[in-house]
Amino acid sequence: MDKLVIRGGEPLLGTIRISGAKNAALPCMAAALLTDEPVILENIPQVRDIETTRKLLAAMGAEVELGFGRAQHRTTICAKNLSDPEASYELVKTMRASTLVLGPLVARCGRARVSLPGGCAIGARPIDLHIKGLEQLGAKITQDHGYIEASADRLIGGEIVFDKITVTGTEDLLMAATLADGETIMQNCAREPEVADLADLLNKMGAKIEGAGTSTIKIKGVSKLRGAKHAIIPDRIEAGTFIIAGALTGGDIKVNGCDPGHLAVLLQKLNEAGVKTKQTADSVRVMGDNPLKAADITTEEYPGFPTDMQAQYMALVTQAEGTSIITENIFENRFMHAQELARMGANIQLDGRQAIVAGPAHLSGAQVIASDLRASASLVLAALAASGETMIDRVYHIDRGYEKIEAKLAGAGARIRRIE
Ligand code: UD1
Repeated sequence: MDKLVIRGGEPLLGTIRISGAKNAALPCMAAALLTDEPVILENIPQVRDIETTRKLLAAMGAEVELGFGRAQHRTTICAKNLSDPEASYELVKTMRASTLVLGPLVARCGRARVSLPGGCAIGARPIDLHIKGLEQLGAKITQDHGYIEASADRLIGGEIVFDKITVTGTEDLLMAATLADGETIMQNCAREPEVADLADLLNKMGAKIEGAGTSTIKIKGVSKLRGAKHAIIPDRIEAGTFIIAGALTGGDIKVNGCDPGHLAVLLQKLNEAGVKTKQTADSVRVMGDNPLKAADITTEEYPGFPTDMQAQYMALVTQAEGTSIITENIFENRFMHAQELARMGANIQLDGRQAIVAGPAHLSGAQVIASDLRASASLVLAALAASGETMIDRVYHIDRGYEKIEAKLAGAGARIRRIE
């Protein structure tokens, strides 16, 4: 298993380029199941979850071509023959977002068999809302041997009000409704930019969707969708992670190719914490020479503070003067990074859904273990600010969602290397 070795204390300087958003690329790849024509996706990040999705789609009979060389961020998916509309436990257990194929498969093939995801390191993460929504569109759902089986001759448009806001749930049902007979109105939808990006692709494929990116989405069902070409939006979580890296190391970096509009709450909070940033239309420069001040956050659905930035923010405020209270509202059990940060010297008390971080604490390099994708990013950040050497084990978690993180950080002056 690979490990990352980081020697802290170097300010990050220069520029870092942001990749395409993993969380937009995954539903867009699933959307290719809705048509028998090729879908070409540009700005696909080279991360492990994309490879998992390729395997998932290929196992169903789709042809998935990942580009090489100058075309390395392009993928072409042709789902002309879907011989086996199934997502196996082997793949779903490594990536919960595999459940995104459920809606497109029932809509296109009239049947789907998808493994239940089971427990997840950051909490229970059920898919009951995906299932309830599909039933409202007329699908018959049964559960057997750990698998969900869904079937429908043709889905029928309907009214869906989500009991709770769910990102992939919104995306799954949005895709299903594009091929349903009649109009679907979905309320209490997730407003994440990744939902809007998926809707952009679907509309290019011939879908009739209005309101994606707001809490009410209207979909007029069509009988067929066609191929399309689409470029994935930049990854706001990757951008946020590097912005915090700049602030934590007292560096001066320009995070290029991002959309600062998607980072509004984070940038506002960083400003409150004493971090100086400057934006253009597609970049954020962070000038980390100010002393950091404590500032509280509460994670919320978009446009609130993203749960996917909570761990990285915790690493930042270990270095801020005063006490910061971090409240995690989206997932239970998403503080696994706290114990590892504490092993590096951070002063963190956990109390249910709250973490109380007192700073500034002297961080020193240690051997730590990555427990999930964003938790591992917070350990990388802490290691960049720590004295001495940190070795991070189980970096396969970070490879799920960050493209060549060590190369990007090393390009800005970090002393980081990967060992086997
Ligand atoms: C997506 C993101 C993930 C991010 C999360 C919250 C992708 C591929 N992943 O995950 O990075 O951390 O949004 O922003 O886009 N819930 C239910 N029933 C359901 C579905 C969800 O109770 O059927 C609950 C979950 O347990 C959780 C909350 O709703 O407490 C939000 O989950 P959801 O938005 O569905 O997260 P994901 O879409 O899995």
